[in-house]
Amino acid sequence: MVLASVTCSAPVNIAVIKYWGKRDEKLILPLNSSLSGTLHQDDLKTTTTIVASESFTEDALWLNGKKEDINAVRYQNVLNAIRSRATKLTDKKHFVHIASINNFPTAAGLASSASGYCCLVFTLAQLYGVDGDISAIARMGSGSACRSMFGGFVKWEMGQKEDGSDSVAIQVQPEQHWPEMNIIVLVVNDKKKETSSTDGMQKSAATSVMMKERCAVTVPQRMKDIEEAIKNKDFETFGDITMKDSDDFHEVCATTTPPIYYLNDTSRYIINLINRYNKASGSIKCAYTFDAGPNACVYLPKDNVVEVLSLFLKHFPGQDISTYYRGPKENIAAIES
Ligand code: PMV
Repeated sequence: MVLASVTCSAPVNIAVIKYWGKRDEKLILPLNSSLSGTLHQDDLKTTTTIVASESFTEDALWLNGKKEDINAVRYQNVLNAIRSRATKLTDKKHFVHIASINNFPTAAGLASSASGYCCLVFTLAQLYGVDGDISAIARMGSGSACRSMFGGFVKWEMGQKEDGSDSVAIQVQPEQHWPEMNIIVLVVNDKKKETSSTDGMQKSAATSVMMKERCAVTVPQRMKDIEEAIKNKDFETFGDITMKDSDDFHEVCATTTPPIYYLNDTSRYIINLINRYNKASGSIKCAYTFDAGPNACVYLPKDNVVEVLSLFLKHFPGQDISTYYRGPKENIAAIES
């Protein structure tokens, strides 16, 4: 018998200060704090349905229609963490079936694990009646997932405690604060990346000479400066820091042994194009950032969208280019329960 069924959706977030490296692999505690903007849930998002039934014989999970191994450590960690705080379904023996769908390429450096684990944890929390901060549980699925729990601009404080209880997501500014901010995504390649972020960050932490300085000095300063820039809606500073942090992150990857290259020729063409365009404009009109993949995410004020889009269309005719508006709208949501 079906006991309960919940469907929720959650959006991706695009980091402007990148998380790269863990100090605790099991709890997923980062080596540095990070900060991102969350898209709307009707843009790039994951939708997850979970059904609890007494007639299921095991827990099971499908991602984009393909059955996944639910016994994988990260799935088990979030399931156990939610079930240990459950206030519903505690008196009935049951299993859950989980079906999750992304409306964008999975694992191509478009933050699919962020929306995926955020959505999984949020939907499980609805099903099991778990209240309070659940960002630390999402973090145990995928680090960046904790930031998708909130809309607007969100930071993930690295925290100091060994148990990870202070390594949580905090909303820096709500959706309403900077509604003029837009994001353009240029999908350069939608194939699955060669080096997963888990593998990549482990190798960088162990071998890149840039990591120490980045974690101890560069990122803490940038976190302060970008928070201030967001507060003041200062796009010049915001864009400058965003591009510098993306460049540094990919430099960390390149100085890893063996080197990791997430960008391709098209990505580098976009970087050059944006730098030349900003220089010719005399101010920062748009700012690129690249995660662990070749696809470009471009932050820009609404007023510059038409000009920048026509620039991209001129250089990449027929390219898959999407614009996303980040103004006030509901972020994560239960669709039905
Ligand atoms: O959460 P993960 O393990 O998928 O790592 C994400 C890492 C980056 O996307 C490169 C940076 C970030 O902060 O989102």
